[in-house]
Amino acid sequence: MSEVKFKIKRYNPDKEKKSYFQDFTLSNPVSGETVLSALLRIVEEQDGSLCFRYVCRAGICGSDALFINGKRLLACQTQTKILKQPIVIEPLPGLPVIKDLVMDMDPFFEKYDAIEPYLIEPDDNIGVDEERIQSKKELDKIDLFTTCILCGACYSACPITWTSSEYLGPHAIGKAFRFYEDTRDAGGKRRLKLLDSEDSVFRCHTSFECVEACPKNIPLTEGIQSLKRSIMKYKIKKFLRIERD
Ligand code: SF4
Ligand code: FES
Repeated sequence: MSEVKFKIKRYNPDKEKKSYFQDFTLSNPVSGETVLSALLRIVEEQDGSLCFRYVCRAGICGSDALFINGKRLLACQTQTKILKQPIVIEPLPGLPVIKDLVMDMDPFFEKYDAIEPYLIEPDDNIGVDEERIQSKKELDKIDLFTTCILCGACYSACPITWTSSEYLGPHAIGKAFRFYEDTRDAGGKRRLKLLDSEDSVFRCHTSFECVEACPKNIPLTEGIQSLKRSIMKYKIKKFLRIERD
């Protein structure tokens, strides 16, 4: 009879002073069992009080990014058979814990909201019922950035978010790049001005930890660097009076 062993971080801030690891053993893992399926089995068969998030089970909703054997991974996309045992499962480091493996994502989403994560219509297009066509080349520039599932892995991995609670974070800046470079977006200068702050792009020290952590392989640092260049170009043009506010 085969077994899979787990060490899962438990914490209930309402009742416990500190977190601890609890051991679980599952027998007869099904072929291709994922960490998420194993967690669901633990809840069904052994401890119904274990808390974690999930929705789609398909790598789309981004709700089950966890720290698994020291790596930020999506539980639904990670098979137990490829992991060294005992499989150690923790919440994403750097995020406050609500209970067990459930993190408080409010600061993460507040920063996401702050960059205006939607297409801004050009004034002359409001009310116009026509498609705005994008070329393949135009789409290619932002395509990978549109695949972000807001899982929080990059935010947890970024060393700047650990030291500065105000830093926007790679997820938000990556999304800002996605809209700034979208040829259908009229945000332009408004987006650059919003990003030209102490707690935004210029805080990034290009450590690439976010890129390493991203399950969608989004080149976040490239996007951040590109926005830095766009902001500098805009400021130089303004200084030379080639560009107005
Ligand atoms: S950029 Fe990647 S790691 Fe960051 S939230 Fe989006 S999908 Fe997750
Ligand atoms: S459950 Fe949705 S990404 Fe894993």
